Amino acid sequence: SAKKIAVVIGSLRKESLNRKIAKEVIALAPASLSLEIVEIGELAIYNEDLEGNGATPPQAWTQFRDRIKEFDGVLFFTPEYNRSTTAALKNALDVGSRPYGSSVWSGKPAGIVSVSPGATGAFGANHHLRQSLVFLDMPTLLQPEAYIGGAAKLLGDDGKLNNDSTREFLKKFIDTYATWVETNAKKK
Ligand code: FNR
Repeated sequence: SAKKIAVVIGSLRKESLNRKIAKEVIALAPASLSLEIVEIGELAIYNEDLEGNGATPPQAWTQFRDRIKEFDGVLFFTPEYNRSTTAALKNALDVGSRPYGSSVWSGKPAGIVSVSPGATGAFGANHHLRQSLVFLDMPTLLQPEAYIGGAAKLLGDDGKLNNDSTREFLKKFIDTYATWVETNAKKK
């Protein structure tokens, strides 16, 4: 059966270029993957006091952790904020990584697509995110690397990709990620 993949988008804004590219990638995915966007905008900023010493953690944290546990892999779309990933995405990683020893990320095969209107394709964000995924023990696809630069020009007014070579590239990326998931997904 199809592997379930959580799609986590680092931008919270409605007209996000990352979200538009994510939707295109979801549409291009092979039948061996079933992709679903998991929202991260309602997660309170991580604070150990909110669940330490017997405190009941925020419901949004618990729901998010339970949700991520259902998936076989995680595909991240990240903007670049000041040469790093966004606080929202880092916060989601932090929330999912706790309590200590019960990280929901552990072992899930990951992929990263970084998207920016700028020329560098959010390279800095892509690699800062990669650094955290090493610690979180998420085997992360190496090649092809996906730095989507000049993204505002790649999307039409309808929010759809208007560039065939980018579409071909994203198709190759998601097909390669599907193989990566088959190879690296935890046995159930
Ligand atoms: C940015 N932006 C940006 N772009 C970039 O290529 N490198 C960067 O370091 C930054 N830094 C940055 C910081 C902050 C606080 C903001 C709000 C923006 C611009 C960014 O790429 C642009 O707003 C994108 O459109 C954000 O992605 P979404 O929301 O369209 O997915």
